[in-house]
Amino acid sequence: TAGDATLVLHPDQDGPTIAPEIYGHFAEHLGNCIYGGIWVGPDSDIPNTRGIRNDVVDALRKLEIPVLRWPGGCFADEYHWKDGIGPREKRPTIVNTSWGGVVESNAFGTHEFMDLVELLGCEAYISANVGSGTVQEMMEWVEYLTSAADSPMARLRRANGRDEPWRVRYLGVGNESWGCGGSMTPEYYADLYRRYATFVKQHQEDTRMLKIACGASGSDFNWTEVMMAKVGNRRMDGLSLHYYTLPTGNWGKKGSDTVFAEDAWFATLKQTLRMEELLQQHIEIMDAHDPEQNVDLLVDEWGTWYDAEDAKGILYQQNTLRDALVAAINLHLFQDHADRISMANIAQTVNVLQAMILTDGPDMILTPSYHAFEMLKVHQGGTAVPLQLLSPDYTHGDESIPAVTASASRDDAGRIHLSLTNADPANGQTLTVTLGDLGRDVDTITGRILTAPEITAHNTFDAPTVVEPTTFDGATVTDGKLVIELPAKSVVVIEI
Ligand code: AHR
Repeated sequence: TAGDATLVLHPDQDGPTIAPEIYGHFAEHLGNCIYGGIWVGPDSDIPNTRGIRNDVVDALRKLEIPVLRWPGGCFADEYHWKDGIGPREKRPTIVNTSWGGVVESNAFGTHEFMDLVELLGCEAYISANVGSGTVQEMMEWVEYLTSAADSPMARLRRANGRDEPWRVRYLGVGNESWGCGGSMTPEYYADLYRRYATFVKQHQEDTRMLKIACGASGSDFNWTEVMMAKVGNRRMDGLSLHYYTLPTGNWGKKGSDTVFAEDAWFATLKQTLRMEELLQQHIEIMDAHDPEQNVDLLVDEWGTWYDAEDAKGILYQQNTLRDALVAAINLHLFQDHADRISMANIAQTVNVLQAMILTDGPDMILTPSYHAFEMLKVHQGGTAVPLQLLSPDYTHGDESIPAVTASASRDDAGRIHLSLTNADPANGQTLTVTLGDLGRDVDTITGRILTAPEITAHNTFDAPTVVEPTTFDGATVTDGKLVIELPAKSVVVIEI
């Protein structure tokens, strides 16, 4: 049976601009994300540009990936950037103690990352080492990256083959400083942040480097409170938040990536919807200290985290239709708070956690999450269109969540994009949309849908197109009312 949902659009009202960076990504030195997933080296048989996989770059360019965060994650607070510059054969190795004690070659360093950023045409978000690095080390990295002067670090960069400085828009001052980044109290980190941030010098002519402070984990509201109170709204441009979706909510036994029934489907989507209450409460604290919204909220790590398929790499997991729902629901939540949220970075780009892309040697597949990002990318940079949604419940056992989530935006050409999710795995929804004052007649409505017969459906190297978008023809307009037949377990994007 279909539920009845109603939605009122207000196309004549302008919400905030949806920062493209909400569709951002995160690539850490972890498992096969960087090595194998992005970097294969210039001598590899896998087609590459200066060592970077062409297939992965092409796929990410199609996503219009706006920003990439690197090198961690936990890895960032043990990374010493000077080990990753100069002739590759002379670079010292590093033991990645955060992730499996793997010995890494340092072949992928600053020049290689910035080359990747330029190939992708995206912004760079560099996470600097506060946990085990010095202020001077961080200060020199910023100079190396962005100074055009005749200064020691700029000269070193030139000696390593790069004349012009790069553009670096975002600098993270430490990562998870409450945990793997140094086990600090918020009071201690706030002081340390103030000290490190003082030495993040502005070298770029046209680009101010935005300083991002390490923020809370999940519901640690005290962290946000202390940071806002002690650092204030002038010394940081952004404060981060990390929240991962675990089906069980239990780090000891998180749940399987592909072998699950409706219990875990429901539990995962319920856990992911917790993001909304976290955003609301962190933003409420920020509003109290910073009503002018000088400090942005950046959800710079989010996504699903299952029990890993370790044989395939550290934190390697498959990615099903469930992950596509998680992706689209979270993007909707971020867009709902686009006045405060200026970036979000899904963890992680390739072969790790909720990946966009999985690789196996020379082969590559796109995951359902990739397709959700690709379908919803039409919102990037758009003006949010306010809406009111009344959703039926999706009930499982004695618990319920809203079945439908929605978000809408208007692009420069005046087109309205409406994206929708239906979490109910068994029931479609009939959604009646009041279009409001569009200032024009609606003639054609085009759309795309992502769904599959099974909740566990996923793409494999043998069957890479099991879950991929197809044309959606379930939207009709009669007398100014749009009716959308939203199938069970689906992500839909329509253009009005
Ligand atoms: O994304 C994996 C890890 O999750 C990151 O290294 C860390 O910041 C977080 O705990």
